[in-house]
Amino acid sequence: MYTLEQYRESADSIRERLDGRQPEILMILGTGLGGLGDKIKKPVYIPYGDIPNFKTATAIGHIGRFVAGELGGRQVLVMQGRLHVYEGYTMADVAYPIRVAKLLGIDKLVITNNAGGINKSFCPGNLMIITDYIKFAPGSPLAGPNIEEFGGRFPDMSRVFDKEYGDIFRAIANERGETVQEGVYFYMAGPQFETPAEIRAIRALGGDAVGMSTVPEAIAANHCGMRILGLTLLTCMAAGVAGTPMDTDEVIRIAEEGAGRFEAMMTEFVRRI
Ligand code: HPA
Repeated sequence: MYTLEQYRESADSIRERLDGRQPEILMILGTGLGGLGDKIKKPVYIPYGDIPNFKTATAIGHIGRFVAGELGGRQVLVMQGRLHVYEGYTMADVAYPIRVAKLLGIDKLVITNNAGGINKSFCPGNLMIITDYIKFAPGSPLAGPNIEEFGGRFPDMSRVFDKEYGDIFRAIANERGETVQEGVYFYMAGPQFETPAEIRAIRALGGDAVGMSTVPEAIAANHCGMRILGLTLLTCMAAGVAGTPMDTDEVIRIAEEGAGRFEAMMTEFVRRI
């Protein structure tokens, strides 16, 4: 749990380092997808460790810094690396940067991740636009005293992911002949992958893909009124779907292979919103 003063202290420290830039869009880059941060023009780098009250990223493939600058003709703030509950962080820690971004004047969010495919019509390497999520894991980034400056106590969650943003992204993918799926992201805290029985249960409950991130940030962002595009790169089929064991090296390899296509489409997306 954090106080409004702590969020403000972090935002003030970032603002001082932005040299007058006013970012409009926050982009959170998932495992293996951090390369987009290196495409930012006139970048300013702000390591999380330099920001008061910030926790640092410890997961593989997560650098742990903000990159502020220009992408697709827009001023963006990119998170090269995010936090996860499986690193031992709370949901409030994981969602902390969202509220700080809101205090910096940002109300548009692109969240990316990689996940395992559950829907049998998906293939590894496909992109999925997240239409909704399911979180049956305990905890919420909003637990504790509500901070009214961010939003009300009981936020509506009936439209977390922005439909128009999904339509824009789908149009970009179609123009490029890229396969793009859409579906429900099922959140599991990890770090262990799921069992085949869990995957059968998740499919029965309506999950199309399963992963260990994104949902804490999406809850906090929806609470404070941000418009969200959620994108999943399906790096493998979930346990028991393809009949092969889960292989982390393969997950990271497919994420890196998909990264180039992903980066080009995301650049075009920020240009169009
Ligand atoms: N399950 C959970 N998280 C993941 C997976 C998966 O199958 N693949 C990539 N991230």
